Amino acid sequence: KLVAVIMVGGPTKGTRFRPLSLNVPKPLFPLAGQPMVHHPISACKRIPNLVQIYLIGFYEEREFTLYVSSISNELKIPVRYLREDKPHGSAGGIYNFRDQIMDESPSHIFLLNCDVCSSFPLTEMLDAHKSYGGIGTILVSKVSAESASEFGELVADPTTNELLHYTEKPETFVSDRINCGVYIFTPDIFKAIQDVSSNRRDRANLRRVSSFEALQSATKSFPTDFIRLDQDILSPLAGKKQLYTYETLDFWEQIKTPGMSLKCSALYLAQFRHTSPHLLATGDGTKSATIIGDVYIHPSAKVHPTAKIGPNVSISANARVGPGVRLISCIILDDVEIKENAIVINSIVGWKSSIGRWSRVQSVGDYNAKLGITILGEAVNVEDEVVVINSIILPNKTLNVSVQEEIIL
Ligand code: GDD
Repeated sequence: KLVAVIMVGGPTKGTRFRPLSLNVPKPLFPLAGQPMVHHPISACKRIPNLVQIYLIGFYEEREFTLYVSSISNELKIPVRYLREDKPHGSAGGIYNFRDQIMDESPSHIFLLNCDVCSSFPLTEMLDAHKSYGGIGTILVSKVSAESASEFGELVADPTTNELLHYTEKPETFVSDRINCGVYIFTPDIFKAIQDVSSNRRDRANLRRVSSFEALQSATKSFPTDFIRLDQDILSPLAGKKQLYTYETLDFWEQIKTPGMSLKCSALYLAQFRHTSPHLLATGDGTKSATIIGDVYIHPSAKVHPTAKIGPNVSISANARVGPGVRLISCIILDDVEIKENAIVINSIVGWKSSIGRWSRVQSVGDYNAKLGITILGEAVNVEDEVVVINSIILPNKTLNVSVQEEIIL
């Protein structure tokens, strides 16, 4: 039997995702019309003998109740949300719930970060892991040398794939092979985490014998229950024939900013052509809008037949798109209204916002730049004939004049 754990983090972790994380926990923000966490969950569903999926995080229980019960019904696999009372770090988080995770006596545990976009080649990883042995296998991807320092950089043996060296976000370049935040472990991972935690406790106790002040500083820098998977577990286990790597040549991205969510939405829409073609709009029939490339339209959204939509557009529930509207590379969230002849390009339009007649909401579409994507927060009202370019508009604003390169607070 196999189980999967998806780390969803908590509210403090989503700050770079503002203003979109003001309304919805980042793991539930829609990419290609499905909550972010839905994509790793669907990938887990494709693993044979997977019996249980756990989401671990420190968001309020109620934020996930609805999603977890609907996805369990839909996929016919139990999905449970396990809430930490406070952050314990990526390894501390799973260690905290080891009894629940081991409930079904799984032979292997998949561990996935929620904020990565990938084809999640989990079955291939499992096969590779079984051939290597050891306690875990890490999914690895090649990135540009300039961006590598944003990730865990690693070096693996080219023939055996053993992890030889691991450094988390190093200041000087180590390698363009990085940790994708997707792992498979045997239950021995809990032993490895336990060793780190008891080591720390011993050290703290030793210091207590020597001086009370030292104890205070020791417990401040090493709280025994906060354990990071990367620095505290992967680094020390590298080069000990315990960890191995599996490199993917398929797409992989990290989703830390709203701009990246637009890019990842495109990647997932493209993947739907193979995995879920029924989710893509076809534009067949005389009564439907013109569809170009990969587009998702929620069944409850109303799109006028004279609108032209795509590529890379996803339109969420109850949105209304008027006559002559043109949408290119954008995420339109629930209950948005876009009036006649408006144009939206390279932008994210927040819940309940409205865009007036002949208005333009657009950006250069630079996913990594601060104002590279235009974002309207919740309930922003862009009046008729207003142009919004490369800007971020916080919730509940009304724009009656055009803006460019601005953050409207
Ligand atoms: N439940 C829970 N509790 N989740 C957590 C906690 C915690 O205390 N801390 C982090 N997470 C979750 C985050 O929500 C995220 O999904 C994942 O664990 C990793 O988050 P971070 O520890 O903040 O690391 P990171 O995202 O900056 O980098 C990690 O992922 C990269 C790939 O995206 C590292 O493992 C890098 O090496 C890796 O390249």
